[in-house]
Amino acid sequence: MADNNTFLQPVNSFEDNMKMLDQMLEFKNLLMIYSSAMKMISTRLQILDEDYAIKNERNPIHSIKSRLKSTASIIEKLHRRNLPVTVESIRENLHDVAGVRIICSYLDDIYDISRAIQKQKDLKLKSIKDYIAFPKENGYRSLHLIVSIPVHLISDSTEVDVEIQIRTIAMDFWASLEHTLRYKNQIKNIDEIVDRLRYCAESITELDLAMMTIRNSIEKDDSPSDIRSQLVDKLKKLEKDFK
Ligand code: GTP
Ligand code: MG
Repeated sequence: MADNNTFLQPVNSFEDNMKMLDQMLEFKNLLMIYSSAMKMISTRLQILDEDYAIKNERNPIHSIKSRLKSTASIIEKLHRRNLPVTVESIRENLHDVAGVRIICSYLDDIYDISRAIQKQKDLKLKSIKDYIAFPKENGYRSLHLIVSIPVHLISDSTEVDVEIQIRTIAMDFWASLEHTLRYKNQIKNIDEIVDRLRYCAESITELDLAMMTIRNSIEKDDSPSDIRSQLVDKLKKLEKDFK
């Protein structure tokens, strides 16, 4: 007969428990590094937006969203790809633990922001996918960059990847709706919905192009011609306050 006391014994040895705790702490530390990288990218984008606004009197970035992948999603993705669930494996194989999404008003702002990011010397561009020039079959459009950024800690520095998605307000609207499809199992008329979404994606492209063209026409007519309006223009820029 089993000794009742065995149920009170820990399953793992003390060494095993210590090892597991060390791994959990290492993982926690990694999440802190990703979170820091994400904050740095967001701050750099805000700086680019402000700099652009001073020079051009309009903000190219409508909004910035960032998210850290949940622990459950990290483990699920590694499992799905048959990869080991270790800190090294996360760093090597997952490039979207830290994600920053930039929503722009106009199409050309997307490429301006992308170029400005790539100019930053301490950022390494690891990959770029242009789903705007080459949309996905379902109509998905966005510009995706994976960059690695150095994070400076107390005793050392390390580099981690951040996934940056850049899209227009309209593309973001489309992607949010399309994303809801992934969580539904049985949808009636799925083929029709997919077709309608693809049609909407094309209409959005036309709309984005038309809006950019109208903005260009307005900006062209608004350029200060005489010396007095140039002066007023500069004084208006001087009035800008910073947070
Ligand atoms: P993931 O394993 O999903 O990260 O894809 P990937 O490594 O092939 O990278 P990709 O650049 O294609 O996609 C990365 C992210 O872009 C996804 O996690 C989504 O957030 C977004 N995305 C890509 N394709 C679509 C799409 O068809 N619809 C929507 N709504 N989002 C998409
Ligand atoms: Mg992803």
